[in-house]
Amino acid sequence: MAILGIDVGGTGMKGALVDTETGELLSERFRLDTPKKRDPEGMAQCFNEIVKHFDYKGPIGAGFPTIIKNGVCGSQGNLHKSWKGLNVSEVFSQETGLPVIVVNDADAAGYATMQYGVGQGEMGLVIMITIGTGIGSGAFFNGQLIPNVELGQIPYKKYKRIEEWASASAKERDGLSLEQWAERFNKFLKITDLLVAPDLIILGGGLSKEWDSYEHLIDSPVHIKPAALRNNAGIVGAAAAALTVL
Ligand code: BGC
Repeated sequence: MAILGIDVGGTGMKGALVDTETGELLSERFRLDTPKKRDPEGMAQCFNEIVKHFDYKGPIGAGFPTIIKNGVCGSQGNLHKSWKGLNVSEVFSQETGLPVIVVNDADAAGYATMQYGVGQGEMGLVIMITIGTGIGSGAFFNGQLIPNVELGQIPYKKYKRIEEWASASAKERDGLSLEQWAERFNKFLKITDLLVAPDLIILGGGLSKEWDSYEHLIDSPVHIKPAALRNNAGIVGAAAAALTVL
């Protein structure tokens, strides 16, 4: 079944039609910049532009970069503070006139990877880490999602959240080389291991596209696999979420 999946990020919003049986993209990706204010009104309009681009009528699955419980935003994340407490499904449904099922973006990316990608059949505790504007995490125990696990929110030194120090946007903000950024990311991986001792970490998000260029710099206590779906996992998982209650 072809479902429109939209990955809502702090920097960009990306959509594509997805074959939910195979997890393959059935269209080109269409991407728009997230409005700088990251507010509900602007983001809902941007979301609708993506839907209009595909001239799509049907249920939409969306990954959203905050805690999401029953469609409601449970944390501000890297977005405008007015999102907190809003029903994101309703905000997007009202704007598009279509049903929108919303889940956390890293949970969506992880779901796609477990269902269609390198996570298939992986048992024990598997954590999907997405490296983008923030650091997202999707946790799966014996294939079952534990929703809204937020490893990017761990406080670190003067930072309220370690993602402010080790994400892709921190790399850009601080003008870090890959070597310098990898040192920070290695620290994040060590803390993750100390806290939840995963059996496997799967890397996704924007920076996972460049895995080949920094794999040799990563020093992880846990085995790491890059998500083969790379940065499309968020879109694919979001589309799958429209059909499955994650
Ligand atoms: C949010 C997470 C989200 C991650 C990646 C963090 O700021 O707290 O919910 O998954 O960013 O977008």
